[in-house]
Amino acid sequence: MNQTESIVYRRVETIDPLTYRDLLVSSGFTGVWPVDDLDRMRRMIAGASLLVAATRGGQLMGVARCVTDFAWICYRSELAVSKEAQGLGVGKGLIDKVREVLGPDVSLALMSYEESFGFYRRIGMQQRSDAFWFGRER
Ligand SMILES: CC(C)(COP(=O)(O)OP(=O)(O)OC[C@H]1O[C@@H](n2cnc3c(N)ncnc32)[C@H](O)[C@@H]1OP(=O)(O)O)[C@@H](O)C(=O)NCCC(=O)NCCS
Repeated sequence: MNQTESIVYRRVETIDPLTYRDLLVSSGFTGVWPVDDLDRMRRMIAGASLLVAATRGGQLMGVARCVTDFAWICYRSELAVSKEAQGLGVGKGLIDKVREVLGPDVSLALMSYEESFGFYRRIGMQQRSDAFWFGRER
């Protein structure tokens, strides 16, 4: 069995906030996720409607966190793959699993930081210019 064959993608009900925080940090992303506010991280997980995890031998490698009605649209909130697992297809595998769980009736939307534009283009997502946004105040 090679490195990528042993990776398991599955929907999970919850993730420990500390574990999730550590994964986000270990992805090397330097953007604006509230990794120093564990209570907010806990609320982010509690309020999600779809969490997909990638594991290998029980080790968490990546997570996609989403909010969806399972009927029309899904908003992917974060996607993170730990630094040592990047480049193995885990990010694509997580998005594929999210789409498999959602099925053909549900569209998938997300906001991306510029560093990741190439990834979303590479996995075939359509880049659009018709998104609107009110920023959070804190
Ligand atoms: C972006 C991220 C999720 C990609 O995950 P990954 O597991 O490394 O990506 P994959 O191995 O599934 O890559 C799939 C394809 O996209 C390409 N790709 C990955 N990241 C890329 C990037 N930043 N720019 C261009 N192409 C990229 C890969 O080379 C691969 O191409 P291939 O099909 O030719 O092999 C991961 O790098 C990450 O967690 N980054 C930090 C957090 C982050 O930026 N999250 C997104 C916030 S919007």
